Amino acid sequence: MRLDDVGYVHANGHRALAGISLDIARGERVAVIGPSGAGKTTLVRVLGTSLRPSEGRIEIDGGDPWTLGASGLRRLRSRIGVVHQNAPIPPRLRVVTAVLAGRLGAWSTWKGLASLLVPSDAEGAREALARLDLGDRVFDRCDRLSGGQLQRVGIARVLYQRPDLILADEPVSALDPTLADQSVGALVEASETTGATLVASLHAVDLALKWFPRTIGMKTGAVVFDRPTAAVTRAMLHELYATEGRVLPEQGVEPNADTRVGNVLALKRPGCQ
Ligand SMILES: Nc1ncnc2c1ncn2[C@@H]1O[C@H](COP(=O)(O)OP(=O)(O)OP(=O)(O)O)[C@@H](O)[C@H]1O
Ligand SMILES: [Mg+2]
Repeated sequence: MRLDDVGYVHANGHRALAGISLDIARGERVAVIGPSGAGKTTLVRVLGTSLRPSEGRIEIDGGDPWTLGASGLRRLRSRIGVVHQNAPIPPRLRVVTAVLAGRLGAWSTWKGLASLLVPSDAEGAREALARLDLGDRVFDRCDRLSGGQLQRVGIARVLYQRPDLILADEPVSALDPTLADQSVGALVEASETTGATLVASLHAVDLALKWFPRTIGMKTGAVVFDRPTAAVTRAMLHELYATEGRVLPEQGVEPNADTRVGNVLALKRPGCQ
């Protein structure tokens, strides 16, 4: 994917992105961090083609998605899996159906409709849910789940989809530290297994540093830094969050007690150097 001087202005005239230029290679894993209102969600939505840039150019697979016809755009979107902060799942839906919906874009209309009545691959859905500790909730109704459990259903749906591009917008904001760590780990493992590109916006800096080889820091709609995670310094992080006081937002992951010295940089995963 390539963004070339992309800007985005909301309908009310509010500018959410300005002058964003990025190259993201196939299979890369990139964390996007930054304070609230920085433009992370807007960027993720531009990458997922749910928002069309107001300025500049976006390329996916070497072409501008906005020059594709309706069916070309639909095909492209079926290869993109999006994890929303608040998964848009209809309340009466069963968990199994919500997860299987991940492949609706790849299935024929008939197979999709039939799957609403009799789940066609309950075992596949259970496997995806089990990776998020929800293997026993396959046949529950979504409105009987907690916010954090629903968020994990949204992640399971994307794991089941096996898209070429995973876009995750604050995918673990409602989870406790252990589950947040495990769930980001599941997304990373999915991208490693299938070769999918993974772009995730995260409030928890420690999760970004632990799991992602590349980190983009955003503030007021612009990229402040875009570095290999190993080159991200504590000073850069403090600068990024300067307006939120000098406390870095952390989820509190603790992968190795020996490295826990109150320094989020100590959490970098060996593979992320
Ligand atoms: N629909 C909208 N209409 C107008 N302005 C919007 C809209 N959505 C977002 N904005 C504004 O665009 C800017 C970027 O918003 P965005 O949601 O991308 O930030 P964010 O980094 O995801 O924040 P958070 O961490 O709180 O989720 C903010 O100033 C926000 O107020
Ligand atoms: Mg957001």
